[in-house]
Amino acid sequence: MSLEQDILQQVASASDEAALEAVRVATLGKKGSISEQMKSLGAMGPDERKTAGVALNVLKDKVTEAIAARKAVLQEAQLEQRLGLEKIDVTLPARTEPRGTVHPVSQVWEEVVQIFGDLGFAVAEGPHIEDDFHNFTALNIPPEHPARQEHDTFYFSEKPDGSRMVLRTHTSPVQIRTMLTQKPPIRIIAPGRTFRNDSDMTHTPMFNQIEGLVIDETTHMGHLKWILAEFCKSFFEVDDVKMRFRASHFPFTEPSMEVDINCSWEGGQVKIGQGSSWLEILGSGMVHPNVIKAGGLDPDKYQGYAFGMGLDRIAMLKYGIPDLRAFFEADLRWLRHYGFKALNVPTLPGGLS
Ligand code: DAH
Repeated sequence: MSLEQDILQQVASASDEAALEAVRVATLGKKGSISEQMKSLGAMGPDERKTAGVALNVLKDKVTEAIAARKAVLQEAQLEQRLGLEKIDVTLPARTEPRGTVHPVSQVWEEVVQIFGDLGFAVAEGPHIEDDFHNFTALNIPPEHPARQEHDTFYFSEKPDGSRMVLRTHTSPVQIRTMLTQKPPIRIIAPGRTFRNDSDMTHTPMFNQIEGLVIDETTHMGHLKWILAEFCKSFFEVDDVKMRFRASHFPFTEPSMEVDINCSWEGGQVKIGQGSSWLEILGSGMVHPNVIKAGGLDPDKYQGYAFGMGLDRIAMLKYGIPDLRAFFEADLRWLRHYGFKALNVPTLPGGLS
């Protein structure tokens, strides 16, 4: 068999691209059979070299062509094979929109954290099961104080020493826990679950509050007013909101104020920042010296403000939700109506809601 026939047969019988490449290297490669013959041309006489040279070049072109042609055939076959294996079942249902939504309370929680985060507040936490000291005594609510009755407290069974743990009735105990563990300046908010034995259209046994606390050596009521005004404008997404500070009483603040914002009820819908009706949204005041002392700080040196807000309540106001109990019914139709797209995370620059 001639060299040409031999090579062309090897090319034709290469069953994949690797085998074909091996044939190419063995013939046209640096040390391949054709290349070796090319080298021997140098030792020939001029006439002999001419004919042999032409013949070798023709052979080289034929082999190159044959390899390219075989390669195309092999690639085509491989593609066919892959297409045969990869299948798309066009009868499968299309992927639907994600169906889960964010609960309005979670949404509002995130919005509030964003706003106060932007104002320099850190988020603090405390336990849901509290002792009497943190929930009451340290907040200037001694045993027998009437405020204890107002809280409709859920008590646990008595411990051997006669004390009873409680489900925290407000987020205010986080004030004490923060003062006991952080050095001033303190600037925190504490959103979280709270519990009271109470249930009607606007009260549920579990609800959410958000506490605010600022303690340093100079903070005064002017700062409190400004922070609350900024918060209300950002949260309700309005340019201006009127605020009314009403003298009130809380054991843990002195003086104490309840804060109302203006709204209109036109068309049966509440609009914040318009109209001349008032809505109460939070309690606040300058932290009582006894509370600062219970937090392990010197009330002659440190001062500051605190506020407490119902998270569920401000969610109802912002999103026009009339009945608090719907928050806990887990009705998917309600959630789809009031819920928020899971991928729309509230941010100040990107928009809160
Ligand atoms: N803890 C109060 C409550 O649950 C709310 C409150 C009022 C918190 C005034 C405060 C405050 O920090 O200063 O009713």
